[in-house]
Amino acid sequence: MNVGQKTRILHASDAAVAAAARILAEGGLVAFPTETVYGLGADATNPAAIAHLYQAKGRPAFNPLIAHVGELAAARGIARFDAAAIALAEAFWPGPLTLVLPKTQGCAVADLATAGLDTVAIRIPAHPVARDILRVFGGPVVAPSANISGHVSPTTAAHVQSDLAGRIDLIVDGGPVAVGVESTIVGCFDAPMLLRPGGLPRAEIERVLGRALVQPPADADSDQPLAPGMLASHYAPRARVRLNAQRLEPGEALLAFGLGAISGIDAAPVVMNLSERSDLDEAAANLFGHLRALDSKGVRTIAVMPIPNEGLGEAINDRLRRAAVGRE
Ligand code: TXA
Ligand code: MG
Repeated sequence: MNVGQKTRILHASDAAVAAAARILAEGGLVAFPTETVYGLGADATNPAAIAHLYQAKGRPAFNPLIAHVGELAAARGIARFDAAAIALAEAFWPGPLTLVLPKTQGCAVADLATAGLDTVAIRIPAHPVARDILRVFGGPVVAPSANISGHVSPTTAAHVQSDLAGRIDLIVDGGPVAVGVESTIVGCFDAPMLLRPGGLPRAEIERVLGRALVQPPADADSDQPLAPGMLASHYAPRARVRLNAQRLEPGEALLAFGLGAISGIDAAPVVMNLSERSDLDEAAANLFGHLRALDSKGVRTIAVMPIPNEGLGEAINDRLRRAAVGRE
C-alpha cells in the first residue's frame, strides 16, 4: 500500500485470518501476533511485496528476513536440515527458535528476503493466530518485527499501530504477546552458533544439542555481521539508557527488577518494574512495553537495575545493551 492509506485493525477471528491471508496473497502487508513479538508479514515469494515491507519499516535491504512456515515439511522445502537442525526443530518447533540454514536448490523464498545470502532464516511460530494465518495463506511468510527499523519491537497491537499506521494494510490484534523478546537465532553451521539470544533460553538448546553453542566472532556487530540485523544500536528508545544502576541520579526514570532497595528512588519522576517477584519470564514479557512507556514520558535517562544473565535474562540484557549503545 502507499504511505498515507488507511490501516485496518481487526480483532483476531476467523474473518480476520481470512482477510490477512487474502491481503498477503495480493502482495499486501499484514501485522500479526506471534508468541515472541508482533511480526509484519509479506508473501515470502513475492519480491514486490518484500520491497514494500522494507520500505514500510525503513529497513535496509541488506538485513535479511525470517521466513515463517506452518509445518516442518514446508521448512524442509526451503532449507537443508542437518542432524542438529532436525533435533532442534523437533524439540522446539513450534516455538521461539529461528534456525539459519543453507537454502535448498528450489528455495521459494525470494532473494530479496535473504539479502542474497545462500542461507535462510526459518521459524515455525507457536501463536495460534500466526499458525492460522500461515495455514490459510498456505505459503511461507517473511515477518520481521512490526516496528519502524531501530525502534523496540512491538508486543501489543497498539505498539504496531503507533509505528506503522498508514504504512501497512492490516493489523490483526491478538492481545499482548506471551514471550516479549524476539526468537533465539541459531546458525546451523559446522558447529551450531548462537546468533541472537532470545525467547528460548540457551541452556535448553544446549541440553538438546549435548554441547555448548558457539559464540559469533567478536566483531559480529560490525558492518558484515553473521546476523546482519544485530546492528549495535538496534533497539533504541529516544532516552539514554544506563545499565546496572546501583543508585539513581536526579531526574532519572527507573526500570526496576525485583524489590531490592536503590537509593534516589524517592526523587525518580517515574518508576516501572519489569518483575517485582524477580521472574525473568515476566520481565521479558514486560521489557519492550515498559521501555516504550518510559520513553513516552520524555525522560532524558532510563536507569536500569541489574538483571541476572540466566534464562531469558541473557536476551533481556542483550536488548538493553543495544538500547544503551551510543547513549552512554
Ligand atoms: O521473534 C522473532 O524472531 C520475530 C517474529 C516476528 O518472528 N521476528 C524478528 O525478525 O525478530 P527481525 O527481522 O526483527 O529479526 C531477524 C533477524 C535479523 O537480525 C536478521 O539479520 C537475522 O534475523 N537473519 C535473517 N536471515 C538471516 C540469515 N540468513 N543469516 C543470518 N541472520 C539472518
Ligand atoms: Mg526487529
